[in-house]
Amino acid sequence: MTPDPGIPAAPELFTWQFATDPYPAYAWLREHSPVHRTTLPSGVEAWLVTRYADAKQALADARLSKNPVHHSEHAHAKGKVGIPGERSADLMTHLLNIDPPDHTRLRRLVSKAFTPRRVAGFAPRVQELTDRLIDGFAGKGEADLIHEFAFPLPIYAICDLLGVPAEDQDDFRDWAGMMIRHGGGPRGGVARSVKKMRAYLLELIHRKRSELGDDLISGLIRASDHGEHLTENEAAAMAFILLFAGFETTVNLIGNGTYTLLRHPEQRRRLQDSLARGEHELLGTAVEELLRYDGPVELATWRFATEPLTVGGQSVATGDPVLVVLAAADRDPARFADPDALDLTRRDNQHLGYGHGIHYCLGAPLARLEAQAALATLLTRLPDLQLAAEPAELRWRGGLIMRGLRTLPVAFTPESD
Ligand code: HEM
Repeated sequence: MTPDPGIPAAPELFTWQFATDPYPAYAWLREHSPVHRTTLPSGVEAWLVTRYADAKQALADARLSKNPVHHSEHAHAKGKVGIPGERSADLMTHLLNIDPPDHTRLRRLVSKAFTPRRVAGFAPRVQELTDRLIDGFAGKGEADLIHEFAFPLPIYAICDLLGVPAEDQDDFRDWAGMMIRHGGGPRGGVARSVKKMRAYLLELIHRKRSELGDDLISGLIRASDHGEHLTENEAAAMAFILLFAGFETTVNLIGNGTYTLLRHPEQRRRLQDSLARGEHELLGTAVEELLRYDGPVELATWRFATEPLTVGGQSVATGDPVLVVLAAADRDPARFADPDALDLTRRDNQHLGYGHGIHYCLGAPLARLEAQAALATLLTRLPDLQLAAEPAELRWRGGLIMRGLRTLPVAFTPESD
């Protein structure tokens, strides 16, 4: 086909520039090629869905399976699709890889244990963790907010929630560090960390069985005792996916969110003023807007066509992977007024940052709790927080699914004792 001379050439995807700022490329795709066939850095071919309406429909389409066995090229078996190491570590039966009826059963079981009440009751602990981490650098006048704050907070929070004893939590910090450093890169080290994590979790589940507590793993075991069955393997896969899905996402929500606020001084001041007045209403809409504006999950996890279908008018063949680009959908001018503007007061904000449909984020209440505590406490304790690097110097992780900063250097007036 001869390219139309009136339309600029398709942007290059997955380059370094793209990782830094993918939004111009997404605007082009939404307009000129809304369901776009591309070759991913791994060599796997996939469709990218970038318009809001198509994205929402695809996320809820039961003909798009989450189970990688449906991929025409079986890239999962070659380690090119999915979480590195999940197959070799026997961790495949988690929520993000399965369809109904298995998904319905497992989601119902975990929902019995991971209740909004449990999350709400966890708020004081999240505040304590947040303050403890800020104590670690508040006197220094500078910090890397990713390493010293955004990274450890969700790890310790999820470990606490699951019931991982305090003395073992630094092992998780190491394993998670391996995963985040190598996301999208060499997979061997990640696979080893995933194996170690699984062995640990199985052992922990075993121990908890004989001494149930009020933690989430005990809750999962209890839920399985009420007539429905959750095997030890399923419980381990569930704990694993809670850690995996709930960790880098939250790191990036805190990281991207803080960075966005620091780059929008007027909006940041409004938020800071409202917090100083003891009002928390703006904080709620602010976190949702930060998720829409530059959310941590750039693409929803893999989906595969189980039959020939059309997405946004485009034919998709059986076995084709379909990737829903949440970051593109959430800037769609057909859905959001002035989508490239940050508006912390935005109310009409049904963003897709947590997905949509039956796989809608299970941990959204916890993510909101952590992000709200993290941002409010940072801005209140370190009111003159500022970026200590030029935006162009900052490096973004080029992982396929996630979008987040490698480092976030900041400076502030040190807190006195
Ligand atoms: C699913 C985003 C935090 C647990 C999802 C999905 C998205 C998402 C987009 C759907 C994926 C898809 O359809 O392919 C986020 C964001 C977070 C966050 C942006 C933080 C800012 C968390 C936390 C947890 C968690 C803290 C748990 C501790 C899960 C689980 C699923 C999921 C278990 C799979 C649900 C299912 O398949 O039924 N998340 N997540 N997430 N999330 Fe989150």
